[in-house]
Amino acid sequence: MNTPRIVTSIAELRAALDGWRKDGARIGLVPTMGALHDGHLSLVRGIQSHCQKTLASIFVNPTQFAPHEDFDRYPRDLSGDAAKLATVGLDLIFAPERAEMYPEGFATALTVGGPALAGLEDAFRPHFFGGVATVVSKLLIAALPDVAVFGEKDYQQLAVIRRMTVDLGLPIEVLGAPIVREPDGLAMSSRNAYLSADERAVAGRLNLVLKDAIARLKHGDPIAEVEAFASTDLREAGFEKVDYVAVRDAETLAHIRAVERPARILAAAKIGGTRLIDNMTV
Ligand code: PAF
Repeated sequence: MNTPRIVTSIAELRAALDGWRKDGARIGLVPTMGALHDGHLSLVRGIQSHCQKTLASIFVNPTQFAPHEDFDRYPRDLSGDAAKLATVGLDLIFAPERAEMYPEGFATALTVGGPALAGLEDAFRPHFFGGVATVVSKLLIAALPDVAVFGEKDYQQLAVIRRMTVDLGLPIEVLGAPIVREPDGLAMSSRNAYLSADERAVAGRLNLVLKDAIARLKHGDPIAEVEAFASTDLREAGFEKVDYVAVRDAETLAHIRAVERPARILAAAKIGGTRLIDNMTV
């Protein structure tokens, strides 16, 4: 079990990938912010059947955090992450410093619309998708992988990245990977580490409330009623603030009146200082 090589500059990254390409390898990229858990490792395992060489990027991207968010306390553990990635046979880690991604004088960023303005995460984190799109486009351009994978846990992010890849004409296949859950159904997230034992117990209710809402939709209850009911359920379960529970078109994230084509239920709620998100196919 070899620890993957770590490169920190785009020049070293490109040199390594050029070698792979000369050997005819199809290359897969797993972009991450580190603090890796089984969900990330499943992204690596998932992409490995689509490529011969896999690389992960580890970069806590400052431009997707607002000043009041957890950029400074976001967990960082490069050697621990490298050891975890070794267990799934990852080939290379790209772990740039801030100045490599945002050089002195950096003045160019992406503006995103469509699913980025669906009124979900964007309504609570207005800076987020511009920052994500900017850093992901930079990572995709730096590595030019054949395929890249993103977790469905950040479902709106996945929709934004799919849209961006098409709009920028990047010749890269974007895969979505299913959410990996704890035994009680809580979606795995690096931010779960912030939860106290009591908060963790409440957090486990989020997925159950969504499952119950799906059952109501299947029973034919109106969408607005189901959304309102689920928000109340979350508050009663102990969440201090429910940002949204929303049933949307699965591809565009547009509002829908009825579930007549693939739909997704998405939710965000706060417990203690921690904001949790989850989503499921309806
Ligand atoms: O989902 C994440 O971990 C991040 O938003 C991403 C895609 C790596 C961009 O920083």
